[in-house]
Amino acid sequence: MNKINRNDFCWCGSEKKYKKCHMESDMRLKILSDEVGYEIPKEVIKTEEEIEGIRKASKLTREILDMVGERIKVGVTTEEINTWVHEYTVEHNAYPAPLGYCGYPKSTCVSINEVVCHGIPDENTVLKDGDIVNVDVTTIVDGYYGDASRMYIMGNASEEAKNLVKVAKECLDIGIKQVKPFATIGDIAYEVQKHAEENGYSVVYEFGGHGIGREFHEEPFVSHVGNKGEGMILLPNMTFTIEPMLNLGVPEVRILDDEWTTLTKDGKLSAQWEHTVRVTENGVEILT
Ligand code: MF3
Ligand code: CO
Ligand code: CO
Repeated sequence: MNKINRNDFCWCGSEKKYKKCHMESDMRLKILSDEVGYEIPKEVIKTEEEIEGIRKASKLTREILDMVGERIKVGVTTEEINTWVHEYTVEHNAYPAPLGYCGYPKSTCVSINEVVCHGIPDENTVLKDGDIVNVDVTTIVDGYYGDASRMYIMGNASEEAKNLVKVAKECLDIGIKQVKPFATIGDIAYEVQKHAEENGYSVVYEFGGHGIGREFHEEPFVSHVGNKGEGMILLPNMTFTIEPMLNLGVPEVRILDDEWTTLTKDGKLSAQWEHTVRVTENGVEILT
C-alpha cells in the first residue's frame, strides 16, 4: 500500500484531506489488526456516502421482494417472476445484478424445493401447489448493491416444508441478533448452526454470506457454520449479507451442468432467507 500523508486527499474519494477524513479510523484499524493478529482490510468499513448508496439499493431490493410476494402464485412460471423483477428494476433506474454476473443468464434466482440456490428461471418451470420457493434479488443503484431473498409458500405445503421455511427464517433473525461491534462472524455462524441443528436440520457450508458495497461479493465471507470468536471481527459500518441455507437432510450440495443450479445432494428440501445488514455503533441495521 502506498503511504499516504496527512495533508494528501483521503483514499476514499471524499476530496477531504486524509487527516480530516479516514486517518484516525485507519490508525485504529491498524491497532485492531495487530491485536487480532490478521489484517482487517479497510474496504470492509464503509463511508457514510457508501452506506447511503447501499441503503438505497437495499430499499429497492426490499420493494421488489414485496412486489413478488403480491404476485407469486401456483401456475406462474419462474420466467414470469424473472420478468417482473427485471422490469421493476429497470423502471426504477436500477440494474439487476445477477444478469451477466460471471455469465449468469437471468435477472434473479428462483430456487424451488430441493434447489438450494442459484435456480435459473425458465419458461418450462411452473410453480405447483406445495412448492417452497426462494426468490433472490440483488439490485445495483448508482453503483451500489443491495441483496436479499425470501421464501414463498405455494398453497398447501406439507408441515415438514413449512417448518423448514420457518426455522430458516428464525436462523436469519438469530444470526442478525449477533451483529454488533466486536462480535465476530463466528458468533453469527455458531448461533445459526445451533438453532438449525436443534431443529434437526443441517446448514450448507459451501456457500455463505458476503461483504457488499460497490461489488456484489466482497470480504468477509460470512459462514453459517462455525464457532464463537472465529472469523473476522465486526466493526461499525461494515456491511454484509447473512443468508443461511438449511437442508432437511444432508448439508452437501451438487451443481448441475448449467454451472449454477445448486441442489441438495440427497434431493431433500432446502430453504433460505437473506438480508443485507450494517453494523452500527451498538448493534445492527437491517438494510433490506
Ligand atoms: N444473490 C446471490 C447471493 O445472495 C448471488 C447470486 S449470483 C447469481 O449472493 F449470479 F446467480 F445471480
Ligand atoms: Co442474494
Ligand atoms: Co448474497
